[in-house]
Amino acid sequence: MAGGIGSRFWPVSTEEFPKQFHDLLGSGDTLIQKTFKRLSAIVPNQNILILTNERYKNLVLKQLPEVKEDQLILEPAMRNTAPCILLSALKIQKQNPNAVMMVAPSDHWIEDENAFNENISTAFENCSKNNVLMTLGIQPTFPNTGYGYIEFEKTPEEIKKVLRFTEKPDYSTAKTFLAAGNFMWNAGIFVWSVKSIVSSFEKFAPQMHQLFQSGISNYNTSEEETFIKEKYPSAENISIDYAILEKAENVYMLPATFDWNDLGTWGSLYDKLPKDEQNNVTVGANALFLESKNNIIHTEKDKQVVLSNLMDYIIVDNGKTLIIVPKEKEQEIKQMREIALKKFN
Ligand code: GDD
Ligand code: MG
Repeated sequence: MAGGIGSRFWPVSTEEFPKQFHDLLGSGDTLIQKTFKRLSAIVPNQNILILTNERYKNLVLKQLPEVKEDQLILEPAMRNTAPCILLSALKIQKQNPNAVMMVAPSDHWIEDENAFNENISTAFENCSKNNVLMTLGIQPTFPNTGYGYIEFEKTPEEIKKVLRFTEKPDYSTAKTFLAAGNFMWNAGIFVWSVKSIVSSFEKFAPQMHQLFQSGISNYNTSEEETFIKEKYPSAENISIDYAILEKAENVYMLPATFDWNDLGTWGSLYDKLPKDEQNNVTVGANALFLESKNNIIHTEKDKQVVLSNLMDYIIVDNGKTLIIVPKEKEQEIKQMREIALKKFN
């Protein structure tokens, strides 16, 4: 899935050039390139579908030259993750009704690829035998309100039954979850058979299922393309977490055995990058820190920046827009962006 706009990474991530197409970590690869490499170690290249908005078609083809056009599922409108997941499941089902699929975001940091591969193959095996929806769980470390929380049954088995799935709780709920001890974060990486996920949509999102089901009959034909162009915009704008995972009763979680970071916010990027003696992170800028700690500065190359007596701030300048936001307000950058775009555009 590479169709989000990464609005909490504004103003570096923009609608024209979202974060998955940026090399945020300075590793030489953009996030989508890193993700593609990680996944192609698990499944053959040609079995990887890229779900994205039609406006990013050329960006994807440029950054992933090994991908053929028929591996792209292009969305004519931004409708969050549920519609694009259903569409891809229906398409895969047409080719192979017994297929098991993995759904992966395009913007995660995962270093231990062996552990990742092992976890995914455990999930694949379980989903090829059982009618279950599987997600990978991450040990939570603080009450992050940007994630889904998974309450699981404490059993000795490696794979845990999910008792309750709560997407993006408020801060006090997240704190209670963390204190309880039997909650994990949802990594946003899912595995299921196409049969199981399509029947979950039938049950919990019947309108969406109805809307798409009839048109995905021929694989990659111009009729199908026209069908998607016509129907997709009327799908509900909702993420898979709210549409299915909060409702389904056959959700299971495998605790991930790899380190994970969703690179969802400036703070999560801060955690991954090297720091100076005062724990400041600098990307691009030539920065001078006076009595200033725990900040992240991201600017164009060699921009001269002086900070005095500033702690725990995010300072980002893309040449046109400059934002200065306390780190604890990082989730709100999404809303700030909307308000700012209204004012400036
Ligand atoms: N194709 C497509 N179309 N992809 C999309 C769309 C869309 O309309 N909207 C978002 N995506 C992609 C994003 O690019 C990203 O790779 C992935 O789907 C997840 O979307 P996010 O917007 O980043 O979701 P989130 O971080 O708020 O929440 C999800 O991930 C968390 C972990 O990172 C949820 O699954 C949470 O429960 C989870 O904890
Ligand atoms: Mg995310």
